[in-house]
Amino acid sequence: MTKPNPMLQRLETERFILKPLGRIEAYRVGRANWNHDPEIMRNLVHSSRPLGRLKWLKKMVWVNGKSKFSHAIVPKDGGPAIGIHGVTLQKHRSAVLVVAVHDRQWWGRKVVAEVRRAIIDHAFERQVVDRFCCTVQARNTASVFNYKKLGFKHVGTLHQAQYDPDSGELFDTLIFELLRADWDKQRENRS
Ligand SMILES: CC(C)(COP(=O)(O)OP(=O)(O)OC[C@H]1O[C@@H](n2cnc3c(N)ncnc32)[C@H](O)[C@@H]1OP(=O)(O)O)[C@@H](O)C(=O)NCCC(=O)NCCS
Repeated sequence: MTKPNPMLQRLETERFILKPLGRIEAYRVGRANWNHDPEIMRNLVHSSRPLGRLKWLKKMVWVNGKSKFSHAIVPKDGGPAIGIHGVTLQKHRSAVLVVAVHDRQWWGRKVVAEVRRAIIDHAFERQVVDRFCCTVQARNTASVFNYKKLGFKHVGTLHQAQYDPDSGELFDTLIFELLRADWDKQRENRS
């Protein structure tokens, strides 16, 4: 019998339970909370326009049990999920990260740093990957700060590479990378 992927594990941080999501739940939580939130949509898919069901299923459900894994971010002191964190495994032991926190009460409260630290620790410890490589819109200041804070290195910029159909704006994409060796060094410095 094959062992379940370690990314299907339930994790815990100081303030949150990170609960692995199935496809249906990921669809339901994401679509109910993001599709009509222009700020979230703009940052996730470049345009603030809501997506239809099929497109949602194709693009926004970061779960397939093999290479895409999502965790609901659930506060330990009760209440529903406040967001979802996703990991997509890629070739050569690499992975991409994505996150959305839809509950505005939690913005500015360092949710992403806490959740991502636990996910990255787990993925490296369980030998899931050796590297994270993530792209982010240069205009998404909070995300850029979060990558820097977690020790990701800015390794490139794709200039004017993406188009926002609502504003007609062309914008840059930044590429951030984190290697296992750099993460280990950071951990040593923290302890
Ligand atoms: C991205 C997202 C999850 C960030 O949430 P968050 O971590 O609560 O964001 P914060 O407001 O705490 O910002 C993170 C950091 O960026 C800094 N920051 C944010 N906007 C800033 C600005 N305009 N100028 C300077 N710093 C800024 C904050 O001060 C914070 O740093 P700190 O923790 O040292 O105080 C949330 O904005 C979201 O869900 N956005 C929509 C989806 C999305 O963009 N996903 C990411 C794409 S992968």
